[in-house]
Amino acid sequence: MRVLVTGGAGYIGSHAVRELINEGHSVTVLDDLSKGHEEAVDPRATLIRGSTANADLLRQRLHADQIEAVMHFAANIEVGESVLDPARYYRNNFVNTLTLLEAMVSAGVKRLVFSSTAAVYGNPEERPIDELHRSHPINPYGRTKMMAELAIEDFCHAYGMSATILRYFNVAGASSDATIGEDHEPESHLIPRILRAARDDSEVKIFGTDYDTADGTCIRDYVHVVDLAQAHVLALGQLREGACQVYNIGSENGFSVREVIAACQRVVGKKLKVIEDLRRPGDPSVLVASSRRIREDLGWRARYPEIRTIVQHAWHWHSTHPLGYRGKIDLVPQENSY
Ligand code: UFG
Repeated sequence: MRVLVTGGAGYIGSHAVRELINEGHSVTVLDDLSKGHEEAVDPRATLIRGSTANADLLRQRLHADQIEAVMHFAANIEVGESVLDPARYYRNNFVNTLTLLEAMVSAGVKRLVFSSTAAVYGNPEERPIDELHRSHPINPYGRTKMMAELAIEDFCHAYGMSATILRYFNVAGASSDATIGEDHEPESHLIPRILRAARDDSEVKIFGTDYDTADGTCIRDYVHVVDLAQAHVLALGQLREGACQVYNIGSENGFSVREVIAACQRVVGKKLKVIEDLRRPGDPSVLVASSRRIREDLGWRARYPEIRTIVQHAWHWHSTHPLGYRGKIDLVPQENSY
């Protein structure tokens, strides 16, 4: 299939582009490179530098490249920033999604796979969280993604579009050959922050040790970025005509912040300096997915379900790319244990 991937130069988008091409699809990437990296884009894809705000550009590419399906990753993803600057989030995550949907309708492109988030659920009322859980996002980031989901659902019903919405839990890891990986600035996510601390010999902060969990720290469900990318390709191949399907993507295992630090220490082979800090506002104590629906409906299976493998791949990427895409060193890290 000929696929337009918005945000294909970003962390998850770039892994999806590679999987798509490996599966025989042809890919046009649309990315404004505000957060993404040109070097992350598979050289077999066509990269167009531009924004999903540009309706003319969208229509033109959909026609010129005879696009048959869209994967929409382009978005802002920082929960904290969304609280401080909601306008940016409503515009990019919701309004620009609407612009894309309208361009798709006018170009007759009816297939969509959409990048959503567990943040649409808000504070969990049941564990694990399945797709029937109430959507009650507690921050603008989650609300903008929920609004985009609602628009997609309505477009499916009204205009005969077929869409799959994937709600990600905590995505981590890198390609197993460490050629593409996570390079956010600023970096707020736990695993890359621990690995940066390991590399720079700096401190890891635990945000909150008084949660209602066995060791007092928050529990999250980590999924390997390559498994997530493969879920997108599977979803694309199994879109149901005129339907809007929603799937969680997680590993269905919860790890506390302390357990993740321990897993990282085992992989990097040294003890890290850990500081116990205050809670980060807005963090729910436990987020664990039920991914049963995507396993049963689409036959999705995680190739890398182990937290150890997720951390190993992330460490291989971070230790060989200390400056992210701006600088690579030829160091093959040893797998250690202390
Ligand atoms: N944490 C620390 N120290 C750090 C960084 C994070 O203790 O230096 C903690 C956080 O407080 C949280 C856990 O590690 O308890 C995981 O934090 P992340 O920032 O890695 O991930 P989140 O669970 O906050 O965010 C993820 C996605 C978001 C999505 C959210 C859904 O990255 O896009 O889940 O709730 F919105």
